[in-house]
Amino acid sequence: MAKLMKRKTKTLIVIFVISVILSLKFPSEIEEEERAKREKLEKEEKTFSVFLQRDSATSTPGGVISLADELHGLEYDFYRQNCPQAESIVRSTMARIYMQQNDISFGLLRLLFHDCFIKGCDASVFLDDSNGNKNHSIERQAAPNKTLRGINEIDMIKEELDNACPGVVSCADTLALATRDAVVLAGGPFYPVFTGRRDSTQSYFDEAMDEIPKPNDNITRTLFLFSRRGFDERETVNLLGAHNVGKISCDFIRNRLTNFSGTGQPDASVDHDFLNELRLACQDSNSTNHDGTVASMKSRETRNSSSAMIFQGLSASILSGARFDNHYYQNLLGGRGLLFADQQLMADENTARIVAVYASDDGTTFRRDFSRSMVKMSNLGVLTGTLGQVRNKCSFPTSQS
Ligand code: HEM
Ligand SMILES: *[C@@H]1O[C@H](CO)[C@@H](O)[C@H](O)[C@H]1NC(C)=O
Ligand SMILES: *[C@@H]1O[C@H](CO)[C@@H](O)[C@H](O)[C@H]1NC(C)=O
Ligand SMILES: *[C@@H]1O[C@H](CO)[C@@H](O)[C@H](O)[C@H]1NC(C)=O
Ligand SMILES: *[C@@H]1O[C@H](CO)[C@@H](O)[C@H](O)[C@H]1NC(C)=O
Ligand SMILES: *[C@@H]1O[C@H](CO)[C@@H](O)[C@H](O)[C@H]1NC(C)=O
Ligand SMILES: *[C@@H]1O[C@H](CO)[C@@H](O)[C@H](O)[C@H]1NC(C)=O
Repeated sequence: MAKLMKRKTKTLIVIFVISVILSLKFPSEIEEEERAKREKLEKEEKTFSVFLQRDSATSTPGGVISLADELHGLEYDFYRQNCPQAESIVRSTMARIYMQQNDISFGLLRLLFHDCFIKGCDASVFLDDSNGNKNHSIERQAAPNKTLRGINEIDMIKEELDNACPGVVSCADTLALATRDAVVLAGGPFYPVFTGRRDSTQSYFDEAMDEIPKPNDNITRTLFLFSRRGFDERETVNLLGAHNVGKISCDFIRNRLTNFSGTGQPDASVDHDFLNELRLACQDSNSTNHDGTVASMKSRETRNSSSAMIFQGLSASILSGARFDNHYYQNLLGGRGLLFADQQLMADENTARIVAVYASDDGTTFRRDFSRSMVKMSNLGVLTGTLGQVRNKCSFPTSQS
């Protein structure tokens, strides 16, 4: 019933103000080595704090959103007392995993989105609180059908953390930190992750079914779902730029290729040449695995300048790219978005203009905004203080006796 609304033309030029520099105080008793390390991080974070302050035509009235408003009780280096090596353990374990499996970054990025979007960044996406009751569905089963990737890897990192500091670091912080580190490893922009998140005691299947955006959602629905999480249009367009990387299974686009929404026709918003490329890429994939595993025996791979594709054995997937640049937006301008929801960014006057802004430079604007959007997403609805718990195994609630 929601109608596509004509939105008032707004200036999209965003002026970033180098205004408030985050000032951090450290206890004087910190050892010199720790201190040097922290100063280095601090320096990095000062650089990035610029992006946490903005005066934007598309932000909420009143202008600058302060960093403190978005911290929601999180702290800089929350584990400095109880597990000072926590962040370096995450970083080194993540680096080890990445070396064996460099597409893990994309799995984690999606996993973080699915966690944070539903009741906040509380690791609820990992939780199996069904207690053997098959009727009780859990959040991670709701994620539009394909199994989320990265859950085992977070378990591995959490195990390393618990070896060093048993029961101290939450699964939610582990995911937030590991995802940031994975994004950086994959060539994405750095962004500061403050810590102190705690884990939920519950999983939220119904909310996930309703509120995780779906690949065939129209722009009205997508903007609605993101606005409920506090993201404005620019931030929504920016976050969808995560689809610069990773792969999308043909399952999610096949309906666009032949009989879109029961029209008997392909989706008219798909560029004609691209339609043929997609059909070609997805044609052998009738027997796509539905358990989410990649059945890659022989993987055939062709790369083209306009769009890279990868066909992995039985589970044909389109690789949307491997770099954190702005080819996603350039593709949208040419009708080459993979998901209907992606291409819908061109169906609304405002979002289309934002796409054009991101497409227009060398990717700098996208990456800069992406740092900021990721901070905001990583801090959504966090549980801090005495709320929630710190789980041992991320998949199971820790019994509270
Ligand atoms: C309208 C919103 C969105 C929709 C409908 C959507 C949908 C999807 C779908 C269907 C896939 C393919 C999964 C598969 O084939 O297994 C996917 C992949 C992915 N999504 Fe999204 N997504 C949305 C927003 C986001 C956001 C906000 C992020 C992160 C900031 C994100 C990050 C990713 C990544 C990194 C992948 C690749 C995963 C991989 O290679 O394993 N998505 N998305
Ligand atoms: C968008 O999708 C919603 C349901 O998800 C629907 O109610 C609405 O009519 C759609 N809008 C347009 C313009 O198609
Ligand atoms: C599970 O669902 C089935 C069918 O809907 C029902 O017969 C059964 O009693 C349910 N079991 C529990 C434990 O709720
Ligand atoms: C995806 O989930 C929906 C809702 O549970 C279900 O109706 C549909 O059959 C599922 N599709 C696949 C491919 O598993
Ligand atoms: C397209 O889908 C609609 C509804 O699912 C169906 O009624 C129609 O027969 C299909 N058309 C073709 C050409 O497959
Ligand atoms: C895919 O399925 C269609 C209809 O079920 C069939 O005609 C076609 O031959 C199948 N393609 C492959 C590669 O199995
Ligand atoms: C992709 O590029 C190769 C050569 O690099 C070319 O032979 C092939 O036709 C191109 N494929 C498509 C679908 O454009």
